[in-house]
Amino acid sequence: MIETSSNLHCKWTTIRFCARPPTVTEKMPLPQHVAIIMDGNGRWAEQHGLPRVEGHRRGADSVRTITRAARRAGLKKLTLYAFSTQNWGRPAQEVQALMELLRNYLLSERSEILDNNIRLTTVGNTSRLPQFVLEPLNELSTVSADNQGMELCLALSYGSREEMLGAIQELARRVADGDLEANQISEKHMDELLSATEPELLIRTSGEQRLSNFLLWQAAYSELYFTDIMWPDFGEQEFQAALSAFAVRDRRFGLIDTV
Ligand code: FPP
Repeated sequence: MIETSSNLHCKWTTIRFCARPPTVTEKMPLPQHVAIIMDGNGRWAEQHGLPRVEGHRRGADSVRTITRAARRAGLKKLTLYAFSTQNWGRPAQEVQALMELLRNYLLSERSEILDNNIRLTTVGNTSRLPQFVLEPLNELSTVSADNQGMELCLALSYGSREEMLGAIQELARRVADGDLEANQISEKHMDELLSATEPELLIRTSGEQRLSNFLLWQAAYSELYFTDIMWPDFGEQEFQAALSAFAVRDRRFGLIDTV
């Protein structure tokens, strides 16, 4: 079992690893929900003279490492951008390799996810996934549904514009059916109709600094953290550095400091 800090439900949580200075424990504000754009698998492979699929394989190892780190740190939710709507357009061989990795991950991590009280959820159009992925995905989502330790949300066949269009179409239907006035449509409706939720911290690895169709609505006030480190090299220390950076951000939400 992964040990967790005792005050899981507080914003101020004790975490063990800090980028500055490396004291044993330190109190700092911890995000409840972190989302990650896991980028750079292909470039990592290229830099190491390996096929792209090897980069993805190493990327799957980082998924394990960071899920454990997130659980240990006491996060409530970790959302990982594992496969975008646009990724379907990659060469068939790479898509197939990613799907097989996903299946292997779901099978090999099953017991760790359950033993650590983690709830597996997804966002995205999962109906497009092949049956050999859907089966272990649905099974693990079902058996872990009541787990309260942490939510691990995989964004699969996910695109934020597509997600928002689905919500807009639903609202248009309600208006057409007379169930809703157009001028009553509020942010709350969007929040309710979108499956993905707002992360306080959004991390992107590999040096790219863009959102790439990920959580466009939900990240309106997320703190963004970019690192040059490629996803396969992103370990617990790098994750803790991102949490430490979040801890010293001044989040104003369009307001001004009053003290
Ligand atoms: C981006 O790197 C990464 C992806 C498109 C896929 C992410 C997949 C994994 C981390 C492994 C499998 C996932 C799970 C949940 C087990 P890229 O290929 O775009 O890298 P590049 O920009 O360097 O080419």
